[in-house]
Amino acid sequence: MYHFRRLLKCGIVAFGALALAEPARAATTPASKCQAAVPPAAKSFLKSSLTALAACQSKVDQGTLPANTNCLTDSATASKRVAAAATLATKIGAKCTDAAVTALAPGGDCAGVHTAADWIGCINGSHSAAAATLIGVADAGRSKLSSAALACQAQADTQIRSYALSRIGALQSCRLKPPKNLPLGADCAAAPKIAVHLAAVRSKAASKIAKSCTGAALTAAQLGPPCGSPATGDDLAQCLLNAADAATTDAVTAEFQDSGFCGGNPAAVETRLDTLLGQMTLTEKLTQMAGSGILGVVWHTPGVDRLAVPGLNMIDGARGVGIQSGNATCFPVAMARGATWDPTLEQQVGDVIGTEARAKGASVILAPVLNNLHHPRWGRAQETYGEDTFLLGQMGVGFIRGAQAHVIANPKHFAAYSIEDDRFTVDISVDERSLREVYLPHFQKAVQQGHAGSVMSAYNSVNGQHCGENVHLLHDVLKGDWGFQGFVESDWYLGARSTVPSATAGLDIEMPSPDYYGQPLTDAVTNAQVPESDIDDAVRRIVRAQLCFQLDTNPPVPDPTQIETTAHTSLTRQVADEAIVLLKNDSSALPLDRTRVHSIAVVGPLAAMANLGDHGSSLVNPSFAVAPLDGIQAGAGSVAVTYVPSAQLSMSDQATVAAADAAVVVAGLTFNDEGEGQVTIGDRANLALPGDQDQLIAAVAAANPRTIVVLEGSGALLMPWVDQAAAILMAWYPGQEGGNAIADVLFGDVNPSGKLPATFPRAETDLPAFDNQSAEVTYGYYHGYRYLDHNGVQPLFPFGFGLSYTTFEYANLAVVPATISANGWVRVTADVTNTGVVAGDEVAQLYIGYEHSSVDRAVKDLKGFERVHLEPGQTATVAFDVPAANLAYWDTTTSSWTVEPITYDVEVGSSSQDLPLSGSFAVTP
Ligand code: BGC
Repeated sequence: MYHFRRLLKCGIVAFGALALAEPARAATTPASKCQAAVPPAAKSFLKSSLTALAACQSKVDQGTLPANTNCLTDSATASKRVAAAATLATKIGAKCTDAAVTALAPGGDCAGVHTAADWIGCINGSHSAAAATLIGVADAGRSKLSSAALACQAQADTQIRSYALSRIGALQSCRLKPPKNLPLGADCAAAPKIAVHLAAVRSKAASKIAKSCTGAALTAAQLGPPCGSPATGDDLAQCLLNAADAATTDAVTAEFQDSGFCGGNPAAVETRLDTLLGQMTLTEKLTQMAGSGILGVVWHTPGVDRLAVPGLNMIDGARGVGIQSGNATCFPVAMARGATWDPTLEQQVGDVIGTEARAKGASVILAPVLNNLHHPRWGRAQETYGEDTFLLGQMGVGFIRGAQAHVIANPKHFAAYSIEDDRFTVDISVDERSLREVYLPHFQKAVQQGHAGSVMSAYNSVNGQHCGENVHLLHDVLKGDWGFQGFVESDWYLGARSTVPSATAGLDIEMPSPDYYGQPLTDAVTNAQVPESDIDDAVRRIVRAQLCFQLDTNPPVPDPTQIETTAHTSLTRQVADEAIVLLKNDSSALPLDRTRVHSIAVVGPLAAMANLGDHGSSLVNPSFAVAPLDGIQAGAGSVAVTYVPSAQLSMSDQATVAAADAAVVVAGLTFNDEGEGQVTIGDRANLALPGDQDQLIAAVAAANPRTIVVLEGSGALLMPWVDQAAAILMAWYPGQEGGNAIADVLFGDVNPSGKLPATFPRAETDLPAFDNQSAEVTYGYYHGYRYLDHNGVQPLFPFGFGLSYTTFEYANLAVVPATISANGWVRVTADVTNTGVVAGDEVAQLYIGYEHSSVDRAVKDLKGFERVHLEPGQTATVAFDVPAANLAYWDTTTSSWTVEPITYDVEVGSSSQDLPLSGSFAVTP
């Protein structure tokens, strides 16, 4: 649950750039005094919160407090926590002025705060959330349990608390006084002494948990997500301690000056950069600002050999490492991964793609794509995670964190890129409020929460300026307001359009080769059209990323043994399993029970094709790929499978289909229908299934009442036959194990759990217009579910929707506290119960509404989600932490974020249209 609190702190101006570039401060500056005061105050606050919550939980466990007590609302516990919060405020308030906080530019959950009150509020919120999460995961007990189960919970609770506090203490001391042997760019957790110490503490804690949690005690213990149903005590221990690692890393990050992607000692990196920049000639600096074409299988930017600056090696990676490098693991496309609503799984995907990129010799992976799906006809719809900024941000951060364990991630295309056919020429006209609230927050999260080391600018223009020379986007927002410390490179070939405007706006690298940079940039510097300080800033960013990612001391080395390993290809199947969305299931047409269904007719040309997606820059070449027919045949067991390859049913096909116990039609889109503009087919012509597929489905459904339609493609399709199909699955472009995953779901070996990351409308006219011809296109405040909500239009299948083979019920909504200040946080909890007879995953969703707002706002916005696994009859409590700052709107009169002091509506449920729980909370003026 911890990842739901890594929420965007809506940006107020951050001065990270200034702060990081300054030499290390003497211990007496106001900023350093403030910094020194925060970690001890924060740690003792966290300790008090943990102790108060644990005391309450143990009273519940012992029966002193009623079994259904919610410790978050229990009044005695709450008053202890309020007292601790007051101490926190006094300690930090005594040492931190607003100016000091602004100069420090805190990181993590607190990125963007610029007053002492905001930092105190943020630390209170983030650390309270960490405490609630740690207790919630280790000890979710609500009912009477055996003494062995209670002992297991109590042990888990004690160990996770003491491990978390030791880890925080060790990380804090390292950040306050980095050890000399901490390599440049390394995290404090990797400092040799600390790593050894923490490994020992962890292993002690793990063995105590494993010892107390065995057999019946383990099965009966009530543990919270994501550790709800561990197979062994050791699995439980690892899961709990991983949760503690994540929570403590986040807590400490929020207590310190933002070091971005530069590890535990950013000041040492800046000192080395000062030296390096002083040693470089102007020519050496300028050479680093443009690609030098392909080197082996990667695009290269030159370094400076004599100074051991290696340069960068880039490769594509939207669904796996790009085809130019040979074979690689091919995942389901990003839209499919968006349908998993599982940022933790996406982190594993990023980890694999990052590992393989590095094993190909790359140091930068040109992913993730973070453009909102403004309209489902966009040719590259498949490459992004969906239509909603919150979902995009969470998934993007997951990918970046995974990938950046190995290489530099490169969120793209900045910004408002979502039309292919005129991508090089279109100007997107977008008002400032829509830009800030709808098109940019996920990029902000990628930079501030994910700590992406680089960003790629888009081909299109925004408000009249090409994105590669857009002063507002690059200079004011990305590097100014968000304090981005990494480098910006252009998209390939037509991404850079000028010399002076690009260099002065903040485009650091022209890719893939010098056209406007190189000699023209040298001339512009010589003629004083571009100040040398701009060149220094660009080179500092380019080299900073190399040092912070340790490319100078630990460069990527090609290693074919890391490519398409069994672990990697198995993960593609897990992702596809989680991504498939069950859209319709009349009369339990699915799953196909192998003991009752004796024959299946598999129909349609697409059934025999491993349909992996676009053939543009996202193309990946796996060494094997499973078509749906292959997967179904392999998974059918004793069920007879007949293949009908026809695109139109002949009389004899009809007879075959009618004779089978069930028919499975595979239909959808391929790379011939949608893809990257200019290099492949581009935008979709409309939302209909191409060719005769509608007729084919209708004919199959007419012949066999148990017709199951398996759809592939990037997203929304019109379904004139929707009432005739018994069941419908959306399988997307499901990756190299896609056929097996489809079979997993058809036969019920996997219970479907994907949820739509984008609206499927009834008609294209229900969406904003899609214009891929005009020179100027206006993007408004509404698209996707927010557009349909605004217009009161019902979709065919709503955003967030997906069925399961079981049923879930929602109950016990709690919103705590009922009133918060503009820098406070609210925690929303709800119980989800599996009321069916098979195990399954549910993605609980939180939406916030603004009925009382004085400005035009969406009916509701997604503000939290959590995937939980539930055995039949099992209940889990899901928790969402929402900082008030996340509810702000962009006030165009003051050019700043404003949190309105109003009542906010809270809704929780299983899709944007099925929200059975509702409540509210108020923000005080
Ligand atoms: C695409 C980028 C890609 C680059 C390099 C461009 O055409 O828009 O997404 O990373 O090519 O292949």
